[in-house]
Amino acid sequence: MLRIGLLGLGTVGSGVYEAISTEKERLTRLLGDEVEVVSILIKNSRKERPHVPRELLVTDFKSFVACKPDVVFEAIVGVDPAYFYVSYLLENSIPVISANKELIAKRGHRLEQIARQAGTYLSYEASVAGGIPILSALKTSLLFNQISQLQGILNGTTNYILTKMSQEGKPFSDVLHEAQALGYAEADPTADIEGWDALYKLQILAYYVTGTWEYSATLTCRGITGVEPWHMEVAGQLGLTLKLAALLTKTARGVEGRVEPVFLPAEHPLSQVNGVTNAIMVTGDLVGQLVFQGPGAGKKPTASAMLEDLVFCHRQFKAGYVPSNNVSLIPFEENDAQQS
Ligand code: HSE
Repeated sequence: MLRIGLLGLGTVGSGVYEAISTEKERLTRLLGDEVEVVSILIKNSRKERPHVPRELLVTDFKSFVACKPDVVFEAIVGVDPAYFYVSYLLENSIPVISANKELIAKRGHRLEQIARQAGTYLSYEASVAGGIPILSALKTSLLFNQISQLQGILNGTTNYILTKMSQEGKPFSDVLHEAQALGYAEADPTADIEGWDALYKLQILAYYVTGTWEYSATLTCRGITGVEPWHMEVAGQLGLTLKLAALLTKTARGVEGRVEPVFLPAEHPLSQVNGVTNAIMVTGDLVGQLVFQGPGAGKKPTASAMLEDLVFCHRQFKAGYVPSNNVSLIPFEENDAQQS
């Protein structure tokens, strides 16, 4: 029996809970173990949650840990208290599957060290581009290629807003409310509309492109709060589309990255990426240009990425391997020695 804990029961947490509940048989078959959700840490115990048994809900971390989860899905927002929870779990050799891009971008390096020392794993495919398995692709299928550049639409909320403003002429604030109601935006949408959410994702991608968390980076970020309807009108007249694009370029010393609104010509692969869809163009020296595209936010796509992490990592773990995000291919010991 694999005992599952959930940190958070917002859009993402409830997506994971529902997928596990409705697809228990499929999971059991794929994992070779029965699964059971044993504990869910929530913040607000007064909120109605008709589809979740009350006895699973706890409001403090001590009670959560007392339920002895074997693996934990972390679906809360921000660094605190997520860092405390995740580091505690990893230190105690409990694997964590996270969707928290801010946590991974800011503390991924330390958390991976903790996981490594404890002989367990931290996996976070869901933290970048929702349902698109971009981290998996970079760490398993694009190791030989030298990646010189990534360009993408990495935030579903802002792409949804820009698409609706451009195609339906709706005002910014109306469309933002729609995106929140659909579960795309963060609880506090500031990180989405100011571009920080996309920047966190770009920072995680920079780790995969450089092979180290200690890359030297020049990063800049501008969101879409200054976008007005007339920008859309002018863009339309000129045959251009306004997108919040994220660009990461490898340099001799590290990476340069920026998130900013840009006008794209109609023939650009990102110009027709609409709504909550995300897309990432990867340029490799041998393969040329690849485009990954798919749902970048929302309940099911994010739950999909987290459950794929569980299936892949648990199978590896059972086979005697500790799943790793270390994309540098330098053995851990050597890597640690370089860092000390
Ligand atoms: N708020 C994020 C977005 C959720 O809109 O892309 C997925 O990371």
